Amino acid sequence: MRNKTICKTGKLWFLLLLFFMGGLTTTHAQSILQNVYGRAHTSLNGQWQSIVDPFDVGYYNYRLKPDPNGFFKNRKAENKSSLLEYDFSDIETLQVPGDWNTQDSRFFFYEGSMWYKRDFSYHKDAQKKLYLYFGAANYIANVYLNGEYVGRHEGGFTPFNFDITDQVKEGNNFVVVRVNNIRKKEYVPTTNSDWWNYGGITRDVLLVETPTISVDDYLVQLSKGSYKSISGYIKLNQEKAGIKVDLKIPELKIHRELTTDESGKASFTLKAKPELWSPEHPKLYDVLISNNHEVLKDKIGFRQIETKGQQVLLNGQPVFLRGICIHEEAPFRQGRVSTEAECRTLLSWAKELNCNFVRLAHYPHSEAMVRAAEEMGLMVWSEIPVYWTIDWENPITYANASNQLKENMNRDKNRCAIVVWSLSNETPKLEARDKFLIKLAKQARQDDDTRLLSMAMQMTNVSDHELKLEDNLSDYVDILSFNHYLGWYYGQPKDYDRQIWDLPKDKPFFVSEFGGGALYGKHGDKHTRWTEEFQADVYSQNLKMYNRVPGFAGCSPWILVDFLSARRRLHGIQDFFNRKGVISSEGQKKQAFYVLKDFYTRKQEEQK
Ligand code: GCU
Repeated sequence: MRNKTICKTGKLWFLLLLFFMGGLTTTHAQSILQNVYGRAHTSLNGQWQSIVDPFDVGYYNYRLKPDPNGFFKNRKAENKSSLLEYDFSDIETLQVPGDWNTQDSRFFFYEGSMWYKRDFSYHKDAQKKLYLYFGAANYIANVYLNGEYVGRHEGGFTPFNFDITDQVKEGNNFVVVRVNNIRKKEYVPTTNSDWWNYGGITRDVLLVETPTISVDDYLVQLSKGSYKSISGYIKLNQEKAGIKVDLKIPELKIHRELTTDESGKASFTLKAKPELWSPEHPKLYDVLISNNHEVLKDKIGFRQIETKGQQVLLNGQPVFLRGICIHEEAPFRQGRVSTEAECRTLLSWAKELNCNFVRLAHYPHSEAMVRAAEEMGLMVWSEIPVYWTIDWENPITYANASNQLKENMNRDKNRCAIVVWSLSNETPKLEARDKFLIKLAKQARQDDDTRLLSMAMQMTNVSDHELKLEDNLSDYVDILSFNHYLGWYYGQPKDYDRQIWDLPKDKPFFVSEFGGGALYGKHGDKHTRWTEEFQADVYSQNLKMYNRVPGFAGCSPWILVDFLSARRRLHGIQDFFNRKGVISSEGQKKQAFYVLKDFYTRKQEEQK
């Protein structure tokens, strides 16, 4: 036994050593530039030359060692006798942004490495810095510029950028990216998920230009607990004191000249009484942040979100969260969402349901999606993919989850629509999981104490009619949220009326998932599985049941639209689709859509 223990401890120390040596860090990307779209930027979106590489021969030599002359060198045959066994050409291209799975039927199931390459020209300026920015790439991205390594990022749903000022050449350059979406036990998410493992450069790629001394980060929001002051900070990309930075909010007649301290940061608190953002009044203000050489433009809303006993308060008023869950899957065509129009189609369906809230499951969606929610008046639950049963005792897994949480919160800290940071979904009640999530909860609270913290927990079925929420993380969240599938995964219709709920009484509770599947157009009685009538009955019975429980602060049924999942294999009904959408994969509304819409319409009337 002792040898085994030594062996296990030894392995852990080796992993930790490797991790801190940088060999296993989840990313070499630098801190994320805040609001890249409000800066001088050039899009590199479009057709990239690509090479599918299932055996990773472009990365490893035949001894499985990293190959210094891998595909990232983008070599060309020098003469007619040259031996070269790859080439980037226009014969094989992929659209960026976009998953590869739905661009080419050969790649529908593909899990492995894909190489991307594109050329760009650039005119260097000694007064400028240049960053290469990626909105997201799933799952690992290795980035090279002109054949030289730039950096690596791990995690499929958060942005990353690299300072390429010194590496970019005058004139012609080429960037090569290796994206690998193989699932692994220690990754976040782990090997199993109930969504399609879309691989690729799935969001925008931009060249972002900034002055040498530039504002790389800022926070502007209502001071916590106040309606009469705005506070935050403006931070330079250098630790320089005495630099002047300007903050303007013209509509509020605010123009404040600030001076940075020795860390390059200027904090502020100023008197202001802005119109408050809400779903009914999604007011956003133009905010201009400038130093001598640049003006950053953003649109920022001001609101307060908090809980009081079993109520959620938006701007001090009780609000019922009329939500729906949404995967980042394009309407009508499937594949990862890749345009703002697709974001707005999904969110307009949520508005049609009379939602004021969306749970963006189970990972950070694009910045475009969050900004569209902000403009359309939808509060957002933002989540990292700590999903089901990840490798709780692995320090590298924790570092990865912690990094994804930081990247998610960093990108969206100025987005007033985000009211909930969610740390996980349906994770098991284990000591290792509790330690992992408590540490993550403390990190989230430390980085942002102005938003609500939650996670999708699971109820304990004490009996077939007694439900109890027993989760050690209950003390660390603001809203008690849980997924609950009475009438689909368990229980019978007779059970709805006799459920006894044993919930803590000091916090609001939110049903982060319920629902059932239906194939659009399949009809029968409400006891026939997969019919629209069955699904509609699950909705009406569950909504009636939850509505009787004190502290019911809202719900986000699972899910807005049918979505692709490798778990769903029932021929003629699922065919690789999870059919729990209230809208079909073709955009057709099922009966349950109208059951939910009616319930939310009544809820909204009650709150007037
Ligand atoms: C779970 C899980 C979802 C999944 C759903 C289902 O609650 O959170 O990701 O898709 O149930 O089984 O359809």
